Amino acid sequence: MTAPVLVTGAAGKTGLAVTRALAARGVEVRALIRREGQLEELERAGATEILVADLADPGALETSFQGAAAVYYVCPNLRPNETQLGRLAIETAEAAGVNRFVYHSVLHPQAEKMPHHWQKLRVEEALLESDLSWTILQPTAYMQNLLAGWSEIVDRGVYRIPYPASSRISLVALEDVAAVAARVLSEPGHERAIYELVGSAPLSQDEVAERLGEALGRAIRAVEVPAVETRLALEERGLGRYEVNALMAMFDYYRQHGLAGSPGVLTWLLERAPATLAEFVQGQTRDEPS
Ligand SMILES: NC(=O)c1ccc[n+]([C@@H]2O[C@H](COP(=O)([O-])OP(=O)(O)OC[C@H]3O[C@@H](n4cnc5c(N)ncnc54)[C@H](OP(=O)(O)O)[C@@H]3O)[C@@H](O)[C@H]2O)c1
Repeated sequence: MTAPVLVTGAAGKTGLAVTRALAARGVEVRALIRREGQLEELERAGATEILVADLADPGALETSFQGAAAVYYVCPNLRPNETQLGRLAIETAEAAGVNRFVYHSVLHPQAEKMPHHWQKLRVEEALLESDLSWTILQPTAYMQNLLAGWSEIVDRGVYRIPYPASSRISLVALEDVAAVAARVLSEPGHERAIYELVGSAPLSQDEVAERLGEALGRAIRAVEVPAVETRLALEERGLGRYEVNALMAMFDYYRQHGLAGSPGVLTWLLERAPATLAEFVQGQTRDEPS
């Protein structure tokens, strides 16, 4: 058995996609999860080893990192201590002799007005200052985020967003991000590289609605949800203060600046065009139970 790649946050949206992509390439995956209840899903995704550990626990982290060939570091979404968690993972990798470290960052971590982007920039900085052989991936917003409101889109033709329909955002299919993650972990030549992973030109939310409508064969309307209503809904979902504030800051940033990137780097890495929104929709309708 070859040394495994350790994937953190493995039971999350990103971690599962990366685990599947690595397993599909025949790479041994050591999945780090938080709860026993997530074991079966990781087995189905193709993980060969599954460890339960808290990313904030230095001892548990040290044990999990031992003997790994590389770490794919995914930080849990919207953590107030994201910078500290990232630094701990970097220090642990150095101490455990795991030389290769691929960091799942975000597009435009330089945007200080979005706290979770800014925290990722600090983690990137810690990586630059480390002795590790690093690669940084900077994905834009996933197309998969649309699934949170999928039934409303499909059944009622309403695409609800917490920023104006004119806000222009570049999207990416999570499977394309995972394919690149697996590639940079499986071959040499990506050390010290920072890759922006963007699947589409910046699209207004009206354009997103139009493309969803074309793919689904029905009219879809983008509808802005007022900020007060959005904040209340996030609080009712039980999100903590940092999470709510970070999300509201992100929506405000999108309102003012959008999140616009170029698909050039991703196209080069995939050696094909990135998945389109139409292909994403086809994937969802294919996966629906008949
Ligand atoms: N969504 C996007 O469009 C997007 C775009 C670019 C970058 N990103 C970044 O991608 C990262 C992952 O996002 P995601 O949506 O995949 O997150 P996610 O679905 O929330 O997954 C995070 C996973 O980490 C686990 N976890 C939480 N706290 C932990 C801890 N203390 N120790 C160990 N595991 C813990 C969670 O377990 P539980 O199930 O127990 O909570 C969950 O399985 C985030 O940093 C996000 O900023 C996201």
